[in-house]
Amino acid sequence: MVAGSGRTYRTVYRHLLTRVDPEVAHRWAFAGMRAASRVPVAPHVLRRAFVEPDPRLRTRVLGIDFPTPLGLAAGFDKNATGISALGNFGFSCVEIGTVTARPQPGNPKPRLHRLVADRAVVNRMGFNNAGAEVVARRLRQLRAVPPVHPVVIGVNIGKSKVVAEADAAQDYATSARLLAPYADYLVVNVSSPNTPGLRDLQAVEKLRPVLRAVREAADGAAHRHVPLLVKIAPDLSDEDVDAVADLAVEEELDGIVATNTTISRAGLRSPAALVAAAGGGGLSGAPLKERSLEVLHRLAARTRGSLVLVSVGGIETAQDIAERLDAGASLVQAYTAFIYEGPGWARRVLGELAASRSRRETDRPS
Ligand code: FNR
Repeated sequence: MVAGSGRTYRTVYRHLLTRVDPEVAHRWAFAGMRAASRVPVAPHVLRRAFVEPDPRLRTRVLGIDFPTPLGLAAGFDKNATGISALGNFGFSCVEIGTVTARPQPGNPKPRLHRLVADRAVVNRMGFNNAGAEVVARRLRQLRAVPPVHPVVIGVNIGKSKVVAEADAAQDYATSARLLAPYADYLVVNVSSPNTPGLRDLQAVEKLRPVLRAVREAADGAAHRHVPLLVKIAPDLSDEDVDAVADLAVEEELDGIVATNTTISRAGLRSPAALVAAAGGGGLSGAPLKERSLEVLHRLAARTRGSLVLVSVGGIETAQDIAERLDAGASLVQAYTAFIYEGPGWARRVLGELAASRSRRETDRPS
């Protein structure tokens, strides 16, 4: 049924969704998933169709039980409006956000483009979001009702566009204070290419005060240790990846999410005119696979198990997931493959991953 639904989705996608503005298509698809999840008994039916957490995929990281290692990357559910619905489509974890302390509209539209030949997306959304207060209220309501099917909630925070770099630490801390009480883990995003100057905060001496301010605000507000991670760009030089890794270890962070989208357009198959028409912003999807894996290898070698590594960027298949886990990631995330492959994608790849694990176990010499 799911393989069939994947084929149906791809046909509908090719003929209908590719004719619709990608941001409108996202809104429709997300609204459809939420609506489907609101129908009585639908969550149970959906979970039968889309979620089959194989016990072999369970993993405990950051002090949290993850039914599977696959989460939905930040940017899909920016305002925490569909966490439970997304859980019904096979994601054991949803990283909401990026949320900023102040609500903001993001960049002018159009700001989302598909490069179908590359199975890629270019986005320059610019952290459009309802702001930390509104999102915190929503999360508080969600947390007030014990969920039938719990989903791990990561909260990704960024700098408000109007705030100067000098005030960045306080701005991040404001979001942390409001949101940490409801977060299973918190991610400091300093790597989106669509907020001017944001990626400069990856420089160690600028990042250190941000991380310290966030940790103090988060743990203080939540009255517990809130696992804290930093999300980095694939465009950092290898030396800068090492420097951030060293800083994360020194500052006793819990982990690193690698990577965000890239500003590179190297090696694309799409016609140059189409790539140019998509304009500036971050590229995600298949073309990011190689660099994201390289960064993971580098981080794993540098941190040698002392940090939790969350690998994201170009993950499309069960093999991609297995490769990241073998390379030292404890968790993986994806976004663009979900857009291209449709609602059955997470379950399909997780099923394949579980099957390959069991083959590995059977093949192991006793
Ligand atoms: C993103 N991504 C993202 N990341 C982040 O930390 N905060 C955000 O707000 C967003 N927003 C966003 C919007 C859109 C439309 C896309 C496609 C992506 C980046 C995302 O979380 C992920 O790091 C990259 O997309 C790489 O993974 P995939 O898409 O190749 O699986």
